[in-house]
Amino acid sequence: MIEARSCLAIVLAAGEGTRMRSARPKVLHMVAGQSLIGRVLGAVRAFGATSTAIVVGPGQDAVAAEAKRIMPAADCFLQLERRGTAHAVLAAKSAIKRRPDDVLVLYGDTPLIRAETLRRLRVPLAAGAAMVVAAFRPSDPAGYGRLIIEDDQLVAIREHADASEAERVIGLCNGGIMAFAGNAALSILERIGNRNRKGEYYLTDAVAIARGLKLNVVAVEVEEDDVRGINTKKELAEAEAVAQQRLRNAALDAGVTMVAPETVFLSADTRLGKDVVIEPYVVFGEKVVVEDGAIIHAFSHLAGAHVGKGVSVGPFARLRPGARLGEGARIGNFVEVKEAIIGAGAKANHLSYIGDATIGDDANIGAGTITCNYDGEAKHRTEIGKNAFIGSNSALVAPVAIGDNAYVGSGSVITADVPPDALALGRGRQVIKEGWASRLRALKSIVKKKAHAQD
Ligand code: UD1
Ligand code: CA
Repeated sequence: MIEARSCLAIVLAAGEGTRMRSARPKVLHMVAGQSLIGRVLGAVRAFGATSTAIVVGPGQDAVAAEAKRIMPAADCFLQLERRGTAHAVLAAKSAIKRRPDDVLVLYGDTPLIRAETLRRLRVPLAAGAAMVVAAFRPSDPAGYGRLIIEDDQLVAIREHADASEAERVIGLCNGGIMAFAGNAALSILERIGNRNRKGEYYLTDAVAIARGLKLNVVAVEVEEDDVRGINTKKELAEAEAVAQQRLRNAALDAGVTMVAPETVFLSADTRLGKDVVIEPYVVFGEKVVVEDGAIIHAFSHLAGAHVGKGVSVGPFARLRPGARLGEGARIGNFVEVKEAIIGAGAKANHLSYIGDATIGDDANIGAGTITCNYDGEAKHRTEIGKNAFIGSNSALVAPVAIGDNAYVGSGSVITADVPPDALALGRGRQVIKEGWASRLRALKSIVKKKAHAQD
């Protein structure tokens, strides 16, 4: 029973990630809207580790902060010099010394790891193994440590850089996740040396050392995606593709309709209700909720938005953080909504900016309406009442309130509150000059004749 066993998870994140060619620490790169480290910690939490240690490098305060944000109870350890993966694990020695039943070591750069897979790795420990290695068969084994098997027994792991030609042919590789029996962990780890091509303390040497101590070492084969390591931007893009595929499949399984799911981009936290329809080329940033029966038309971009039941969004709409759309509301093409509550049944069908606003139920926002929310220094709110009608091309200069059932004439610049039921015309009066056009034409023809005469 692994449930009864305590488990310390150690997540290594001190590497520099130079192969990413980026100013950002590797584990803070994003997959499906979550940092790599955040995803690994999410899996650790989901599988139920009893304590978690994160190893970060000097100057990686941002990594420690992200880890704390995701898992406030985690302990951060500093690896002062980057001297290899085994050296990194020993940075968390004091946590290992507390003698948890199991010690699970994970790399912060394997963002597709799933809780079920972590659970599987602990099963052999409960049965008496001293060490478990996650093995996999990558489509391209280059760069990964190779598993050396003799007489059906895992005897060693050879790092790519140190492997012979014959060893490089081996397809079975080290996934980078290892589990140790808590009572054997330190005696194995402290025996690891650094006599190899890179002069680093390789965690992978733990296998040969455990074998030398006559301990039982087991390899558990896992899916490639679970242990895909991210070292380059290309691998980051590949991991994103896998994560998107998983999210799309989960959405389809949950009853979402997508005619071209391969063009829809989701975030790990996107929540989509039943009978939601998502047309092609829609992007979901973080923290979006779409309730049952809503339709998101093509080419829309949503982030931090809550879309109510039966709402219609887009095509070409942009919902920014704080957009909350009530049941049956309609947000049409080229409409941007930010930090605004749109009442049930309210409509803004064309070409609008609605920011820092509250729109009452059933209000109609005409084409080209702009809430002028920013005066160059501060943001101000626009309040529009229930069933109000805002004529096309109106500028509502906030702070301003339009009462229930009020009308605003098209082309208005509204700078003062409009009472309920009133009509506001915030534009110059129309002027008519009878016969003006024919007088203009006559004038033009005289000018033309004079010019001819001078030629
Ligand atoms: C490692 C394994 C390799 C395996 C592969 C799987 C070793 C020696 N090699 O290689 O067998 O196939 O992962 O993806 O373990 N780190 C530190 N401190 C250090 C060095 C690394 O914290 O001093 C961290 C990194 O931040 C990273 C992880 O350890 O999260 C792995 O390091 P990385 O350099 O990416 O190892 P690989 O060369 O990919
Ligand atoms: Ca790696």
